[in-house]
Amino acid sequence: MNALITFPTSEALRRLHLVAEASDRELMERKSRAIADGSADRAIADVLAAEEADYRGLYQRYQANFLSVSPVYGRFLYMMARSVGAKRIVEFGSSMAVSTIYLAAALRDNGGGLLIGSEIETSKVLRSQFHLGAAGLGDLVEIREGDALETLKDVGGEVDLLLLDGAFSLYLPVLKLIEPWLKPGAPVLAEKAICPDFLAYINNPANGYLSLPLPIDTGRRNIFAVRVG
Ligand SMILES: C[S@@+](CC[C@H](N)C(=O)[O-])C[C@H]1O[C@@H](n2cnc3c(N)ncnc32)[C@H](O)[C@@H]1O
Repeated sequence: MNALITFPTSEALRRLHLVAEASDRELMERKSRAIADGSADRAIADVLAAEEADYRGLYQRYQANFLSVSPVYGRFLYMMARSVGAKRIVEFGSSMAVSTIYLAAALRDNGGGLLIGSEIETSKVLRSQFHLGAAGLGDLVEIREGDALETLKDVGGEVDLLLLDGAFSLYLPVLKLIEPWLKPGAPVLAEKAICPDFLAYINNPANGYLSLPLPIDTGRRNIFAVRVG
């Protein structure tokens, strides 16, 4: 079974990646220019400072943007969730549900399960639900609306995989929220892990994780960790 190459999931993903590319083109071009002119690190510092001041306000500005994972990273998410036989997945930052669809497709092919997503922007929650329905995966996903620091406090059971893809400065507090539920051997995937406190924690094996920079979409500074402790 591979829902990724099966209608309607395959068609929903094809269409969403096209729409995402068009919606986010300007942002992506700005990012490429920053990498080229050497100002990317300053841009990262600016984002972290803006998040610290008001992360809700910052993400409101991006409510029309997908900010989604690439098709390659999405395939990797699917493969990880299949390889651990995931039944319960938690996602911090669902946006328009592109990563959610890859992960929920793995749940479908694992024989069922639950993905608990989180999204602070109401309009994105509504669009996510529509996209998940179009992908034929709505029955496997609960997107919790609001601040993940509140909505992910109780995830109701052991977690097989955690994706961190929301406000960068909240990766560590969200990880700590989920940690008591996180199964030994569970992968923790952090998209664009740029916050120093999170990196210091996840890269220190004394905290119960082994981690590596993930050589996929390398400009995005992705981290792959496994809970080993
Ligand atoms: C990079 S996007 C997620 C992309 C998504 N994982 C995908 O691949 O399609 C980050 C999302 O996190 C949301 N977000 C930011 N802070 C949040 C918070 N504290 N709680 C819930 N969602 C949050 C933003 O509104 C934004 O839509």
